[in-house]
Amino acid sequence: MELENYFEKMWKSYIELIPQASKIKNLLEAEGESITNDHIALRTFNLDETSIDVISQPFLDLGYIEKGEYHFKEKKLYAKHYEYPGNTRPKIFISELLVKEFSLDFQNTIRKIVKSKPAEFYRDKELMLVGRPWELSHKEYLALQAESDYGAWLAALGFRPNHFTISVNHLKKYTELTDLNNFLKLKGFELNSSGGEIKGSQAVCLEQSSTLADSVKVKFSDISVTIPSCYFEFAKRYVQSSGELYTGFVAQSADKIFESTDKGQ
Ligand code: NI
Repeated sequence: MELENYFEKMWKSYIELIPQASKIKNLLEAEGESITNDHIALRTFNLDETSIDVISQPFLDLGYIEKGEYHFKEKKLYAKHYEYPGNTRPKIFISELLVKEFSLDFQNTIRKIVKSKPAEFYRDKELMLVGRPWELSHKEYLALQAESDYGAWLAALGFRPNHFTISVNHLKKYTELTDLNNFLKLKGFELNSSGGEIKGSQAVCLEQSSTLADSVKVKFSDISVTIPSCYFEFAKRYVQSSGELYTGFVAQSADKIFESTDKGQ
């Protein structure tokens, strides 16, 4: 597997769920910008078959190195991020849902769908292109959603990138996140305003914003229903006191960004 090729295929799978991302990319390119991806965010369940350790292995095999770890207590998530030497490739941010912290019914549904495939299935080097590999009814989706929007999203859409992220540091014209946000709003895109449009600050060396999730019609085992799909993210990083550009993530900001795919948004 070649990295660029995998990223290209992941981008294609992503924009199928979020046509607004390719529209935004095209609009910025028409403004003379070229797009650099800051990070790709992936989601999984923390069962043995699908844990972060399993999901991250193909990236480690391709030269990525484990960096930071993050706890999202309220959302019952744990995450790690991975960097490519020299940061010449997008960072990979992988979060996992702490399944055991939910009701027994919730746990049973997640275990049932995950275990409908053999463990080797989840070690596929291109797992993030498979989409949803299991059966799920809309009724089950709603029951999961009552406890976790994240869990419902993952159960319904499966393994695919949750979001790509434009690196504002690499833009020439829209060098401030506020400028980029204003440009996007002017073009008719809606931004996630949960916790303010800009999450984070220069003080924590990272500012992020995102669109509200697009929507997609999903064929459940009983009926087809339109649900929130993916969002597009924008990040600006600042130089730390050490003189180096900050490459980590800020749990408090990401906590709010996760809400971009919530049902109420
Ligand atoms: Ni992100």
